[in-house]
Amino acid sequence: MKIEKAKEILKNSKNVAVLTGAGISAESGIPTFRGEGGYWRNYRSEDLATPEAFSRDPQLVWSWYEMRRGVCLNAQPNPGHKIIAEMENYYPEFLVITQNVDGLHARAGNKKLLQIHGDIFTSRCTDCMTIEHFDEHPLSTNPPLCPSCGGLLRPHIVWFGEAYFPGMIDKCLNFLKSVDTICIIGTSGQVSVPVQLAEYAISQGAKSIEINPSTSTLTELVDIALQAPAGEILPKIWDK
Ligand code: APR
Repeated sequence: MKIEKAKEILKNSKNVAVLTGAGISAESGIPTFRGEGGYWRNYRSEDLATPEAFSRDPQLVWSWYEMRRGVCLNAQPNPGHKIIAEMENYYPEFLVITQNVDGLHARAGNKKLLQIHGDIFTSRCTDCMTIEHFDEHPLSTNPPLCPSCGGLLRPHIVWFGEAYFPGMIDKCLNFLKSVDTICIIGTSGQVSVPVQLAEYAISQGAKSIEINPSTSTLTELVDIALQAPAGEILPKIWDK
C-alpha cells in the first residue's frame, strides 16, 4: 500500500528533490557514521571531523581520510544511486542534495547535485586557500602540502562547528521552495542543516517520502516512511 502510494506520488511529480545521507552508500560498502563500522581506531567522526582535531593532529585526521578515501575509491555506485541518476533524466526539475562526500552520486551520473558537506577528493590549502581536485591515494606525504605554496592541505569538507560553503544552503532553499516531492534517503537526521532543509521543503507543501530501514528524526514528519534498504525500495517505487 505505502509502496503504491509512493509510486503514485513520484509519477505525479514534476519538481523532485532527493536528500541523501550515508545510508544510500551503505550498499556500496561504505560504512555509515552512526551505524556498525562508524568508528575508526575507536574514534567517532565527531572526534576527527573538526577544525580542532585537525589543528591538534593533522596527520591523524589525514590518516582517517586516507582510509575513507581508499574505501570510496574501491566503492561503486549501487542500484539506489543509479535510480537517482535516472530520476534526474526524467524530471523537468530535479536536484540531489547529499550529505555524503564519497562522490558516488556524481559517479552514478547525477549532475544536478549539491554536495553540501563537500567532497573527500577535493583539498583546500590552509594558507593560500586554493581548492582543487586531490585524489592521490595512498598519500605520498602525510599531511599533504599545497603544490602551489607548500601550505598544509585539508579536506574540502564542512567539519562539525564550521559554516557551510557560501551560497550552498541558499541554492538548496531556492530549489526546495517549489518542489512537489522530496525523497529523504539514508539519513539519521542528526545534523541540523539537512534536517532543516527537509523540514523547509515539507513546510512549503512538498510531499515527502523517507527510505530508511530505521526511523530517523524526520520519520514522524514525512508522508510515507518506507522502512527498508534503499536498494530494495527504490526499484519498487521507480519503474520509469
Ligand atoms: N538504505 C537506506 N538507509 C540506510 C541503509 C540503506 N541500505 N543502511 C543504513 N541506512 C540508514 C541508517 O538507518 C541511518 O539512519 O542510513 C542512516 C545513516 O545515518 P548516519 O550514519 O547518521 O549518516 P548521516 O545521516 O548521513 O550523517 C549525517 O553526519 O557525521 C556527519 O557530516 C557527516 O554527512 C554526515 C552527517
